[in-house]
Amino acid sequence: MAKDIFKKCREYRDAQDARAQGFYPYFRCIDDSRGNHVLCQGEEKIMIGSNNYLGLAQDPRVIEAACDATRRFGAGCTGSRLLNGTITLHEQLEEALAQFLQREAVLLFSTGFFANQGAIIALTESEDAILCDRENHASIIEGCQAALGQLIPFRHNSALALRNRLKRLPEEAGKMIIMDGVFSMSGDIADLPGMLQVAKEYEAITYVDEAHSLGVLGPQGRGTVHHFGVNDEVEIVMGTFSKSLGSMGGFIAGSRELIEFLKHKARCLIFTAALAPAVVGGVLKALEIMQSEPERIDQLWTNTRKMHEGFKSIGFNIGSTQTPIVPILIGSEAKAFRFAQRLFEEGIFATPAVYPAVRYGEAIVRTSFMSTHTSQDLDLVLEIFAKLARELGTFDDPIYTEPGRRRNVFDFALSEQARTKTL
Ligand SMILES: Cc1ncc(COP(=O)(O)O)c(C=O)c1O
Repeated sequence: MAKDIFKKCREYRDAQDARAQGFYPYFRCIDDSRGNHVLCQGEEKIMIGSNNYLGLAQDPRVIEAACDATRRFGAGCTGSRLLNGTITLHEQLEEALAQFLQREAVLLFSTGFFANQGAIIALTESEDAILCDRENHASIIEGCQAALGQLIPFRHNSALALRNRLKRLPEEAGKMIIMDGVFSMSGDIADLPGMLQVAKEYEAITYVDEAHSLGVLGPQGRGTVHHFGVNDEVEIVMGTFSKSLGSMGGFIAGSRELIEFLKHKARCLIFTAALAPAVVGGVLKALEIMQSEPERIDQLWTNTRKMHEGFKSIGFNIGSTQTPIVPILIGSEAKAFRFAQRLFEEGIFATPAVYPAVRYGEAIVRTSFMSTHTSQDLDLVLEIFAKLARELGTFDDPIYTEPGRRRNVFDFALSEQARTKTL
């Protein structure tokens, strides 16, 4: 008898169990959104679970530009960029981004996930090594797993660990180091200067995912490589439109020859439909606003500092975040789910992150802040977190009472599949 492929589906009960206990935190439906506030089943919630850092997703000028693009080009491109899907707006956005990021060329992808997958798979061959920070985003890990190159994870944000990995590789192997500029769960900023020094020693190329740093770090929000002044030393920059730029889609920026190659070899680009006109029109406008209204980024950082201080003064462990992503350490998965559920009941929208997004038993409630949160919003968020910590006994958890466990808690756990592919 043939193996029953659907057996695992029938046996999958995690989500159902969580629903039965009233703690299911995912796929929450939003009926209406103003960015910092959303409406869920008629109730208003303060949104601290999005990546809409500059509030541009709801900006009327962005929405109008998206409508204009739709009126001119239609609702969709109905085909791949390579064939019938390229419109002038795609080329304008590529040009605008290349100028903004001070790169020779840019290539748009339909999602950030595809940008990472497409570039990593197209670039690496079987004799190449891909050195990957353990906390890198799933799209990078998936790309590395699907690529012919060998995935070599290294300890989160450790140039020393990177050097130890590189030391063991044959001199002639191609080497590509990939890291998030800002890590999506911990909010850490990558130690780019340290990594680049090691990269040079071993003739490795570097690839930085700027998904959470675009619009957040560097002059005018140009990202981590500009924040550290190392734009010329990093060969590949990847970014998304799904966070500060308030929409969806992704891109790779680099040399003209890199982009020319990816345009013709990245299957995630060639075999999927181009970004819809509304998306590209909206992103073009959002990019323009981001540059002309730097006060948005200033306000984002004012809000971020307030929340770092606020959470720490309540007693929460927020790891080593330096950015608007603020992970609140809770401990067990059940506790994190309960905490998130109580937050929701109290009018706050935030979701828990559990293994394998974070280390097992060290679940967090992931919060992230926006320039459009008001002081009132933020004070209320802190008040409710403090109340729930008391109510749920958060600080009595061993994760808080055993001091040794308060360090290095956000080490990303690679899937078993990824582990087996390591050296
Ligand atoms: C670091 C990082 N890279 C890539 C992505 C994928 O981006 P997109 O949502 O545009 O597919 C994300 C999204 O969560 C991310 O956090």
